[in-house]
Amino acid sequence: MRPKITIVGAGNVGSTTAHWLAERELGDIVLIDIPQTEGMPKGKALDLMQAGPIAGYNTRLIGATDYEPTANSDIVVITAGVPRKPGMSREDLVNINANIIRDVIRKVVPLSPSAIYIVVTNPLDTMTYLAYKLSGLPRERVIGQAGALDSARMRAFIAMELNVAIENIQALVLGGHGDEMVPMVRFTTVAGIPISMLLPVEKINAIVDRTRRGGEEIVRLLKTGSAYYAPGAAVAYMVEAILKDRKLIVPCSVYLQGEYGLHDICFGVPVKLGRRGVEEIIELPLTDEERAMLERSVQLIRSTMAALQPA
Ligand code: NAI
Ligand code: 2OP
Repeated sequence: MRPKITIVGAGNVGSTTAHWLAERELGDIVLIDIPQTEGMPKGKALDLMQAGPIAGYNTRLIGATDYEPTANSDIVVITAGVPRKPGMSREDLVNINANIIRDVIRKVVPLSPSAIYIVVTNPLDTMTYLAYKLSGLPRERVIGQAGALDSARMRAFIAMELNVAIENIQALVLGGHGDEMVPMVRFTTVAGIPISMLLPVEKINAIVDRTRRGGEEIVRLLKTGSAYYAPGAAVAYMVEAILKDRKLIVPCSVYLQGEYGLHDICFGVPVKLGRRGVEEIIELPLTDEERAMLERSVQLIRSTMAALQPA
């Protein structure tokens, strides 16, 4: 039997994720949205299904506004929520999206208690924390998507600056998915060469800054919502790592129990992704400066968590 992948939220990120996943033939896909959207998830699923013969993929997609077709999913991706508009931070979304996460978790988890959950909704680390706590699932199976996207943005900016192949570039962005995220310059290489040997410090700092504000740059350009092509690709990358048991090291937001000296928080750290979800959390030795940057990111997430109102 093919794996079943449910995507909750058939908006920009959800439907783009479905597109990337369909092309990779990783499993059959169920797109879910709220009843008020009426035929929208069905229409998008049918449209993607009809692209199969032309694009050359053999993926089955269905759309629905009730959860029955999601039963026994292997993976559940949660993109349900409101995106930010120009002038808004991810943190401004906290209570609107918290209620959406509560609604989704309540409906989807009883039907797919063995699934691995990937949370995308912002503010990402706080929504992943909420999903983890409400679901009652082990921490290995509730994973926030942010670091794959933020690291990809950094890689793209370096490739643009140096005019080299994107696959030559390795970058690692840790911490929360907010303005205080931490692009780790010390672990950034081009074909194994430290970035500090290829670019002057001012250029590296500009890339770090642009990476931190990568989401905001797209919001400013689009004006009507936030990014979806790269976020959807980042989710598909994670889903593939899990379903193919790739043991891929990807920075993800996960619930920490003492790693990096942190407790009771979802935070972006390098993890090994495989068929059991998070199979290992990799702890890196950090400099005092890196530790201080991560601490600022922790503070931003803790302040967002503190703004969470009870259901
Ligand atoms: P969108 O507005 O295009 O789609 C969101 C969809 O969620 C809508 O179709 C809406 O009807 C649906 N929805 C709302 N409440 C729901 C519920 N209770 N159950 C099921 N579906 C529900 O927004 P977009 O652009 O797809 O963004 C979705 C979320 O992902 C936002 O919170 C955004 O900030 C976040 N995001 C996170 C990224 C990350 O890297 N973690 C990257 C990009 C977006
Ligand atoms: C992004 O980074 C909005 O979190 C979303 O594009």
